[in-house]
Amino acid sequence: MAVPIVRTLSVLRQTVAGWRAQGFTVGLVPTMGALHEGHLSLVRAGLARTDRVIVTLFVNPKQFNNPADLAAYPRTEDSDAAKLAGAGAHILYAPNAAEIYPEGFSTTVSVAGASEGMEGHFRPGHFDGVATVVAKLFLQSGADLAFFGEKDFQQLHVVRRMAGDLDIPIEVVACQTIREKDGLAMSSRNVRLSAAERTLAPRLAATLFETAAKLTAGADAPPLLAEAARALGSAGFGQVEYLELRSEATLAPLVRASEPARLLVAAWLGDVRLIDNVPVAPSSR
Ligand code: PAF
Repeated sequence: MAVPIVRTLSVLRQTVAGWRAQGFTVGLVPTMGALHEGHLSLVRAGLARTDRVIVTLFVNPKQFNNPADLAAYPRTEDSDAAKLAGAGAHILYAPNAAEIYPEGFSTTVSVAGASEGMEGHFRPGHFDGVATVVAKLFLQSGADLAFFGEKDFQQLHVVRRMAGDLDIPIEVVACQTIREKDGLAMSSRNVRLSAAERTLAPRLAATLFETAAKLTAGADAPPLLAEAARALGSAGFGQVEYLELRSEATLAPLVRASEPARLLVAAWLGDVRLIDNVPVAPSSR
């Protein structure tokens, strides 16, 4: 059965009110479309924990600091809707821009701390755009739970902080990164890799896993991370924007894996910017 597509806030609210009247709980999976198995795993997580799942599709102009990236972002609504029908999502909320940013819209949600460094440094304004649109999607849907992939680990922290700080009554659920068989983290941007770049791309995840194991064995991060970034460059990657060890709980920078941590990276491959991260178990040394 086709997934119903909702374009307006008023229809979204009527639909959710109808579900509430039947006692249903509601899950939300925010996306920008170009759906892949990673997104569908979020839908499945939503179906496992809530009675009705809304997937949102909105390519949010406010989170793109680079107009070329916004223009190149894949837009595949028909095939997205077909995938969602197969996965069992209940509605696809694909609002017109005016439902999200009506004439005169002037509010920005800005999350200090979690938004700083890494993505926040290399994509100025990105997390303001994310926090603003996600706050709107939380409030528009009134969902009980929202499902986000750990692939965008810093985004997860920003969104959690925002919902907590604004007392939005929603639980933000983190879901594991889904990887291709060769280890490459699934991403809507992967389709833009050339055949040669696609062959090289799994080196990013492999480097993260190898480096994480050394950190858990007790290595100091600064020299190890510098060496890993150099190795990516020698393998054929372009600029490694960051490769950092951060606390899993607070995102504070770490020099050793002295607590549960994450190793996070952003690197260019041709004209595609890839991000990824892996957990780092604490070192016993
Ligand atoms: O992760 C994404 O696809 C986007 O940042 C999100 C959360 C849908 C907000 O536009």
